[in-house]
Amino acid sequence: MNFSTSIIETIKKRTSWRTYSPEPIQGLKREEIDHFIKLKDISTPFGINPSDYRFRILSIPEFDPKEKKKIGTYGVIQGAQDFIVGAIKSSELDQEHYGYLMELIILKATELELGTCWLGGFFNRSLFGEKINCTPYEVVPAITPIGYPKDRRAKEKFIRFIVKAKKRKPWEEIFFSGNLENSLSNIDLGKYSVLLEMIRLGPSAANRQPWRIIKENNDSIFHFYIAPQKGRMGQIYETMTRLDIGIAVCHFDLCAKELGIIGKWKVENPEIQGTEEYSYTISWFGS
Ligand SMILES: Cc1cc2nc3c(=O)[nH]c(=O)nc-3n(C[C@H](O)[C@H](O)[C@H](O)COP(=O)(O)O)c2cc1C
Repeated sequence: MNFSTSIIETIKKRTSWRTYSPEPIQGLKREEIDHFIKLKDISTPFGINPSDYRFRILSIPEFDPKEKKKIGTYGVIQGAQDFIVGAIKSSELDQEHYGYLMELIILKATELELGTCWLGGFFNRSLFGEKINCTPYEVVPAITPIGYPKDRRAKEKFIRFIVKAKKRKPWEEIFFSGNLENSLSNIDLGKYSVLLEMIRLGPSAANRQPWRIIKENNDSIFHFYIAPQKGRMGQIYETMTRLDIGIAVCHFDLCAKELGIIGKWKVENPEIQGTEEYSYTISWFGS
C-alpha cells in the first residue's frame, strides 16, 4: 500500500490543520506525494475504474491575487500554497470511492508529516473544477490544502471548539450487534475491536460521525450504514456523509490489511429490521 509506518499509528496521529507555513512543499516529500496521488495499483471496495477519476496537486502560485480571494475557503485556511484536488465521473458510488481515496492520500500526507484538512463544504467548486479540467460528467466532491502545518491560530481553535473536533461518539452509539437496538461490546471482539476503533477516530464533515456499523451475531460480518441526517443542516451534510462512509471503509480496510485480517467487501443489503431510514452502503465478510 506504499506506507512505511503503521497505518494505525498514522490514523491516531492525523488531525485537521487550517494554518500553514507559506512555504511550498519541496524535495523528497514533494516527490513522494506527487507519486502517491497517481494511486498506481490502488483500488477500493467500490470498484470504480481508475480511468474515471484523478487527483492532482494544484499550487497556489498558479492563482493570481484576485483568484486567491476566490478560492472560497472564507479565511478558514491560511497560508496553504498547495491543494489536492480530485475529479470523479458521476456514478452511484462516486462519493464513497472518492472519500476512500482522498483519505488514503491524507494518511500518506500525515505519514510525511504534512498537514491537511478535508474541505467538503466551503471552497469554490467551479474554480477548482476548472483548474482540474472537470468535464460536465465529473464532480469535485472535496479538496484539501497540503503543506507544513503551523501553530493553530485563534480562528482555527474556535472552529475546532464549535465542532468539538477532538471528541468522538462513544462506542455504543455507533457499533451494534444484530440490529440497531443492541450495542456492540468491544470486550469479546478480539482483533476486530481495533478495526472499529480506527473507524471511530476518523474525520467526518462537521464531526457528525454518521457511520453506523452492525455486526452479525456470531459471525465476522460487518454492515456499514449512514445514519439519517435530520433537519436543514442534515440536508446540507447529506452528500458529505457519503464521503464520511468512504473514510470509514478506508480505515477498516487498511487496518484489516495491516493486521492480516482477511475478508471480502460486497454490496449486499441484509435488510435488517429497523434500518429502513438508514442508508446501507456496503458489508465486509471475514473469512
Ligand atoms: C467530508 C468532510 C468534509 C469536511 N469539510 C470541512 C470544511 O468544509 N471546512 C472545515 O473547516 N473542515 C471540514 N472538515 C473537517 C472536519 O471538521 C474535521 O475532520 C472534524 O471536525 C474532526 O476533526 P479532526 O479532523 O481534527 O479529527 C471536513 C471533514 C470531512 C471528513
